[in-house]
Amino acid sequence: MIELLPSILSADFAHLADQVAAAERGGGTTIHVDVMDGHFVPNITLGPPVVASLRKVTRLPLDCHLMIENPNEYIPAFADAGANWLSVHYEACPHLHRSLELITHHGMKPGVVLNPATRVDLILDILPMVHHVLIMSVNPGFGGQEFIPFSLDKIRRLAAIRKELRLAFRIEVDGGVAHDTVEQVVQAGADLLVAGNAVFGAGQPEQDARALLTAARAAAKM
Ligand code: DX5
Ligand code: ZN
Repeated sequence: MIELLPSILSADFAHLADQVAAAERGGGTTIHVDVMDGHFVPNITLGPPVVASLRKVTRLPLDCHLMIENPNEYIPAFADAGANWLSVHYEACPHLHRSLELITHHGMKPGVVLNPATRVDLILDILPMVHHVLIMSVNPGFGGQEFIPFSLDKIRRLAAIRKELRLAFRIEVDGGVAHDTVEQVVQAGADLLVAGNAVFGAGQPEQDARALLTAARAAAKM
């Protein structure tokens, strides 16, 4: 099933609860939360306290995308804050197997994220452990960037592997998902669509979420 995950990175942080509620009314089913540390990526955003606040204002699952160094050190804090899904970058985890086990052990759904330059085939062995694989279709760090076209080949490759290995992990795509790209992204095989700018950028998250989801679901039926 195609789902929309509004990314609060582009939301108005002074009105976060309202923004999340509007995105939910527009059809968002999980909230995507971008955690950046100024080291792994050249930007700083938020951490467990904001996740704990979000937890109080929405019942939707919180999908926390860790763009940080040494993510293992922070896994318990995100679990305590109420994160439901937690993803770590392949590039930040020398002991990825351990990181994924730790996330599962803390009661969250584990995901692995690949930067644009990281090949899908590198994660073949750990695919049975993950709930989702997140394909970055921009270099992480900022909202509102342009979709990198070869990400579509990576989504297709991952969808083919999933079929071949008879696995059930979800394929999530993050970066530049908008009206001009969503059809191709869905047809390539993605089922979880993260969108920041396309949902929050114009200040009408409910309408814009709904329109994007409608376009995505139409593309899935083509
Ligand atoms: C970028 C973040 C994304 C970001 C996507 O590093 O991981 O989740 O919010 O933003 P858009 O949809 O604007 O490209
Ligand atoms: Zn993200």
